[in-house]
Amino acid sequence: MTAVALTAPPPTFAFLVHPRADVAPDMARVWPPLGVVPERAWQWGLRHLPLPTLTLADVHRRGQRDAADDGGSAGLLGHVLVVPVGARQLLTEDRRWVLGKIERAVDRAVELGASVVGLGALTAPVTAGGRLLRERPGLTVTTGNAFTAHLTVEALRRLLPAAPGGHIAVVGATGSVGSCVVRLLADEPIGTELTLVAREAKRLAALGSEVAATLARGGEPMDVRTARSMDAVRDADLVLILTTASDALLRGEHLKRGAVVLDDTQPRNTDPALATERPDVLVVDGGVAEIPGIDVRGDIGLPRGLAYACLCETMLMALEGHREHSVGAADVGHARRMRDAARRHARLGFTLAEPALSFGRPIPWPSAAPVLAGGLG
Ligand SMILES: NC(=O)c1ccc[n+]([C@@H]2O[C@H](COP(=O)([O-])OP(=O)(O)OC[C@H]3O[C@@H](n4cnc5c(N)ncnc54)[C@H](OP(=O)(O)O)[C@@H]3O)[C@@H](O)[C@H]2O)c1
Repeated sequence: MTAVALTAPPPTFAFLVHPRADVAPDMARVWPPLGVVPERAWQWGLRHLPLPTLTLADVHRRGQRDAADDGGSAGLLGHVLVVPVGARQLLTEDRRWVLGKIERAVDRAVELGASVVGLGALTAPVTAGGRLLRERPGLTVTTGNAFTAHLTVEALRRLLPAAPGGHIAVVGATGSVGSCVVRLLADEPIGTELTLVAREAKRLAALGSEVAATLARGGEPMDVRTARSMDAVRDADLVLILTTASDALLRGEHLKRGAVVLDDTQPRNTDPALATERPDVLVVDGGVAEIPGIDVRGDIGLPRGLAYACLCETMLMALEGHREHSVGAADVGHARRMRDAARRHARLGFTLAEPALSFGRPIPWPSAAPVLAGGLG
């Protein structure tokens, strides 16, 4: 009689994404012919046809060759799945319909054997950071926002020398990622001034008071201001944007000359025209990590070897066998746990992308502020 080893398969993850405001180019990443379907047909089809959850990419450890008899599953870490709903539809369509689509994608993740589900891009905000999703036994849910907050603070530290005035503005400060970033900054302050921007007054005031109190306890003299209008950003040297609009919010008129912008948003909330119309402004794409030890077999919209921070957190939770949800507002304690997990799995990557990216193009991390020619920007 032969003994059969009954070992549990290693935990795998599924990470949910969705097409952005222009659906066709993102659907072409799943299967190129889908890119020729006209935009209006996509908008109608996504709303009215029973489209299934699609697989965008399979994710493996590098260096694990696929054995012919394992169906290509050697070193399988997880899958990236597409919820067939566009960015604008996620934000504007009937909430129950949107939630139903996301629930079906989670069902698909379970069918694929995932033990951790990560909520990419707008699938986190529209499910109240995962809190509106149905509980499933054995399945851990994360927004991926805590590791994103950690990596964002790392990026702010890297960018600070290029923004010598040291005034940092956080647009979307009260959000899940934003509030965690702001709390991490209050614990280990950088810069000289902090401006927190969001629209809803009560949450903003509460966060502002909390941060001021933390800074005071730490004996930090830093000024903290709150503002409900993007105009407040015009004084800032370094602007972090963490909002959830379906397209551009931060434009040239909001930014002072020589400002540095860190844009974590997906879909992008900075105006693409900044790249051409404001050469004095540096825009760095935030929330992107290197993963040299991981092979993403599919087009996730980033150069090979890079991944979004929220995808990284989902991978890290699966690698660690982490069993507690990380839903709602990202938690500072979880951000530190994920930072430590990233260090434990450093052979796979999980550090800031090197070089940085600006509108998707590689650029060196700036070591100092650029010297600007005369005239007003
Ligand atoms: N790169 C990555 O790996 C990664 C990871 C996680 C998240 N993200 C992206 O980060 C962004 C934030 O995600 P989240 O989960 O933190 O979202 P969230 O919890 O919904 O927070 C959004 C924040 O933006 C504010 N806001 C929204 N619209 C605004 C406007 N027009 N003007 C000023 N403030 C506005 C909201 O406050 P008010 O409603 O009060 O204005 C809130 O503070 C999203 O774009 C998400 O896709 C990227």
